[in-house]
Amino acid sequence: MAKIELSAVTKVFGPRPESVLPLVAQGMGKAEVLEKTGHTVGLRDISLHVEEGETFVVMGLSGSGKSTLLRLLNRLVEPTAGSVRVDGRDMVELGRAELVHFRRHAASMVFQGFALLPHRTVLANVAFGLEARGMKRRARQAEARAWIEAVGLTGYEGSLPGELSGGMRQRVGLARALATGAGILLMDEPFAALDPLIRRDMRDQLAALQKRLGKTIVFITHDLDEALRLGDRVAILNDGEVVQVGTPTDIVLGPADGFVADFVSGVNRARVLTAAAVAAEAEAEATVIPVSSPSEAALESMRRDGASCAYAVDAEGKFAGVVTRKDVAHLRIVPTLKPDVALEDLLAVVAGAEWPVPVVNDAGVLVGTIDGEAILAALAGRGE
Ligand SMILES: Nc1ncnc2c1ncn2[C@@H]1O[C@H](COP(=O)(O)OP(=O)(O)OP(=O)(O)O)[C@@H](O)[C@H]1O
Ligand SMILES: [Mg+2]
Repeated sequence: MAKIELSAVTKVFGPRPESVLPLVAQGMGKAEVLEKTGHTVGLRDISLHVEEGETFVVMGLSGSGKSTLLRLLNRLVEPTAGSVRVDGRDMVELGRAELVHFRRHAASMVFQGFALLPHRTVLANVAFGLEARGMKRRARQAEARAWIEAVGLTGYEGSLPGELSGGMRQRVGLARALATGAGILLMDEPFAALDPLIRRDMRDQLAALQKRLGKTIVFITHDLDEALRLGDRVAILNDGEVVQVGTPTDIVLGPADGFVADFVSGVNRARVLTAAAVAAEAEAEATVIPVSSPSEAALESMRRDGASCAYAVDAEGKFAGVVTRKDVAHLRIVPTLKPDVALEDLLAVVAGAEWPVPVVNDAGVLVGTIDGEAILAALAGRGE
């Protein structure tokens, strides 16, 4: 079951939100609803799910409903219609005590404005959520120190927020959210107030931490670059509606409509597309043979595929090397690429290679190969 599930959620702001639902269902636009009824359609008929351990990014222009969507997830906002399930529980059915417990233990929020306590030290700020949970002083300080180290702030435990830069303050906010041990992080434009360079640094650090922690993260941004870098999947909102949900590659290569296409037109594909995505664009599948194949069998496989080389794998599918038609008895060790390398960082490797470059995952398994044509196909975009 998905960690978070929204089914047909509509949110209308105003004095009598339910009265407006029929108009919304008829498809009346946001501007017309506002003009005719004085109500604001925040979100319209949203259905989506977030899997456990996924980083799910919601992006859209100002007023598109991003914060409203996030706030539904810890019931700072209640749906006018539809249901919100988190961890298998219907949020609307949580009692007051259950809701407090949920916000303390299950889902932490990280805000744009950091929301730190100005007169408390870094250590005390990070330990704050643990205090609220009733953890003993010594234990919570040890726990807080570990998270301060994880976000790279060791040495600043005794500083006050006012003595730190914006980026450091946001690290404290992040450490505080992580320290609660919550499985879900709700992040509403957490890096928006930071300078571009620091912002990129924070983004990379969050990505690195997430690789280790595997939290379920819902991350809001209006920065497409940030969305594509961080998101396992990205939802694009426009005027309260989801116009597309997909992986960064799906969105860059196959924008669902003109709105998304406009959004992604300025994207540097070479930075967004990964080796795995480029390998998927390869025209022909690589010839794969068992590393123990006799030369004759290996040659036969290459002839059958019209390939000039073959990729040898062991019994577990782990990549062992390349053999060529010209010298089939010689197993060559060649450079490989990791699936998450960006296209711009693999060009030199592919340009310098004699054969399509193998893409090999962390387990050593061959997942595809990349040649110059695959790169061109990926840069040109699907079906163009
Ligand atoms: N409490 C509220 N009362 C009335 N209208 C609201 C309220 N909260 C949000 N809205 C409206 O709902 C719509 C979506 O707002 P929301 O704050 O979710 O957008 P956003 O995408 O987060 O925008 P931003 O990028 O500016 O933060 C907007 O039209 C907004 O005016
Ligand atoms: Mg917002």
